[in-house]
Amino acid sequence: MTNKTILRIEALLRCLADGRFHSGESLAEQLEVSRTAVWKLIQKIISWQVNIYSVRGKGYKIPGGLKLLDAEFLSGALVNNHHFTQVDVLTSIDSTADYIARKWKQEPFKGRVCIAEHQTAGRGRKGRPWVSPFGANLYFSIAVQLPLGLSALGGISLAVGISLAKTLNHLTTEPVKIKWPNDLLLNNQKLAGILVEAIGDSNDSSFLNIGVGINWDMQLNQGQSIDQPWANLCDIVSKQLTRSEVLAKLLVGIDKTLTLYQASGFTPFVSSWQSLSALYMQPVTIFTPQGKVEGKEVGIENNGALRLETIDGIQIFHSGEVSLRKRRIDR
Ligand code: BTN
Repeated sequence: MTNKTILRIEALLRCLADGRFHSGESLAEQLEVSRTAVWKLIQKIISWQVNIYSVRGKGYKIPGGLKLLDAEFLSGALVNNHHFTQVDVLTSIDSTADYIARKWKQEPFKGRVCIAEHQTAGRGRKGRPWVSPFGANLYFSIAVQLPLGLSALGGISLAVGISLAKTLNHLTTEPVKIKWPNDLLLNNQKLAGILVEAIGDSNDSSFLNIGVGINWDMQLNQGQSIDQPWANLCDIVSKQLTRSEVLAKLLVGIDKTLTLYQASGFTPFVSSWQSLSALYMQPVTIFTPQGKVEGKEVGIENNGALRLETIDGIQIFHSGEVSLRKRRIDR
């Protein structure tokens, strides 16, 4: 999409955000394009899973309107952040993770966050797609340079997960838990996922790309699917709080977490992890490329690896290619 198209779509979305009918003619006038061009832009927005009604003689309307992210508010809220103060709020992008990696390659920076209303190619862990309808959820990537070698970063995605869960638990009516290594759960259903990628291979400085997707009000279209049950944050936060307000609190929390991690590593997070883990002291199965291992989740190492009590004794698992599932005990 060209910049001009994006700007026109943004103008169109701002008009339709009020939830009222707007005639094709008035939209064409405001955008200074033809009615056919308006129709084409509308089709594009519909392809992003925005529900647009069109009624002959009345025009177009988004039922219920739209509550768009507030870029100005977000920039203001992050101005005192230590690790990332630059905020890019995008209407649509392939993936915030890829966007920020491209920016870094063009011109390295110290820290930056990219937030998008919509992703056309959102990526989850293990090459899975991350379904990213427009305006429905939270999708963001933080890129930071830390004076730590890659080997010191084993616990960073867990520390970010702990930070997210702690912030959310101040805002929600039901407890948000974490599932090793990278998920947030609400009532055992997936609320959010974290994808951390490290760029560069230096021993004493790393560039981290921390991607977070949080379901706010995820609704699937026909033909779409997500391979596990999911939960929505809007069901458990006060209706007074906007997506931007919640996001700002989460980002400030992550900034503080990065400072603590940089100073002391994962150690200060271990006790929080135990109290937040959905499966602590529970029977679980770990799936590895070599097969499955059954045991009880008994803790976390200082490098973020999981401790499992098995019939052969304590075994340690690093994230990566392994996955974890709660095990039912047959009586
Ligand atoms: C997971 O599989 O649980 C991790 C999901 C991470 C999704 C986020 S959304 C923002 C950022 N951009 C992406 O393409 N992926 C991450």
